[in-house]
Amino acid sequence: MRVKGAVEKLEPAAAAAPARHHVGPVELTIVLPTFNERDNVEPLVERLEAVLAGIEWEAIFVDDDSQDGTAEHVRAVGGTKPYIRCLQRLGRRGLSTACIEGVLASSAPFIAVMDADLQHDETLLPRMLAALKREALDIVIGSRYVEGGGLGDWDQSRARISDLATRLSRLVVKADLRDPMSGFFMMRRPAFEAAVRDLSGQGFKILIDLFASSPRPLAFKELPYQFRLRQHGESKLDTLVAWEYLQLLLDKLIGHVVPVRFALFAMIGGLGLFVHLAVLGVVLKAFGVDFTLAQSVATVTAMTSNFFLNNWFTYRDRRLHGWRLLRGLLSFYVVCSVGAFGNVGIAAYVFHADQSWWLAGIAGAIVGSVWNYATSAVFTWRDKTK
Ligand code: GDD
Ligand code: MN
Repeated sequence: MRVKGAVEKLEPAAAAAPARHHVGPVELTIVLPTFNERDNVEPLVERLEAVLAGIEWEAIFVDDDSQDGTAEHVRAVGGTKPYIRCLQRLGRRGLSTACIEGVLASSAPFIAVMDADLQHDETLLPRMLAALKREALDIVIGSRYVEGGGLGDWDQSRARISDLATRLSRLVVKADLRDPMSGFFMMRRPAFEAAVRDLSGQGFKILIDLFASSPRPLAFKELPYQFRLRQHGESKLDTLVAWEYLQLLLDKLIGHVVPVRFALFAMIGGLGLFVHLAVLGVVLKAFGVDFTLAQSVATVTAMTSNFFLNNWFTYRDRRLHGWRLLRGLLSFYVVCSVGAFGNVGIAAYVFHADQSWWLAGIAGAIVGSVWNYATSAVFTWRDKTK
């Protein structure tokens, strides 16, 4: 009801606003990812109208089905202002993928990506466009770390984390960017199109993704701006976002060889081996039980700890809770037991054919972990959005 009221309230004001008629094709699209940003929509549109006078522009809000009615609100504004569009995505979350899909929904030659919460300084937009037109550049970036830019009111710990994340980005971004973590930039369409099929789309950091995925070095320029304080709504940055950032880096480093999820799964599997041996040793020595019992206890403990580690890290985005957690654990036991049979079977086969115990052991372990990974992805951590 709140939402409806807000839309009704908006209509007279929107009708009274000066109409902006398109006289030519859209030259600039501003892609604005939103998640619960309803109260920022109108102030943002007003600011864009003010700074982009004289430019043929449109804005595409890409909303991940916000509970606060952001999408309805944007459509209400679009009802009187056809240059305001909404792309509403259902059953999905993700800042980077929202930006990518927003860009793909536009046909303008210049595209800007900007937060919708008024923290990015929109007065930079006309200068970004002018720079792109004037100079041989692929992309112009709003930067907090060049002369004249700043963090606004960030506390020390957030600034430190941002600094660490920036350093880590050097693993995958070779360009000497001062602010690779920026989510505020404008680019030429061909630069985006050359990279789009290789983008990870993981997490928050689309700019890093673009630079790391571009087939050629991008010609860039950074323009300073002051990161503003948020007035309405709240930040979506949390530990999941930080974890997704690490996964983005990992994907850019090794993703062309093996999927990141499998690498995590296999790493946790390796850790499971240590858990197994430790428990086996302790149970044997401390409790003096027979080997079969100790081995069984160690196996169940290792499977259980692997389940929780995978639920925490590998499948953080699909994490199971409550009774689903219990059901997931049971299905994981079943999956791993079948995997163990496969592992032993293949290892025995290779051992008899080849006589090399270590080759047989590795072959068994690979088959077992691939099986565990593939089947647990289907039965334990099913992606419900597909
Ligand atoms: N569609 C969609 N889906 N939008 C999202 C999602 C999502 O899952 N998560 C966040 N957003 C939107 C927010 O609504 C906001 O408009 C924008 O993305 C940025 O999100 P914030 O949560 O406000 O991010 P922040 O201010 O903490 O972080 C920002 O840090 C950078 C500086 O390091 C980044 O996102 C950058 O864009 C920014 O430059
Ligand atoms: Mn923000």
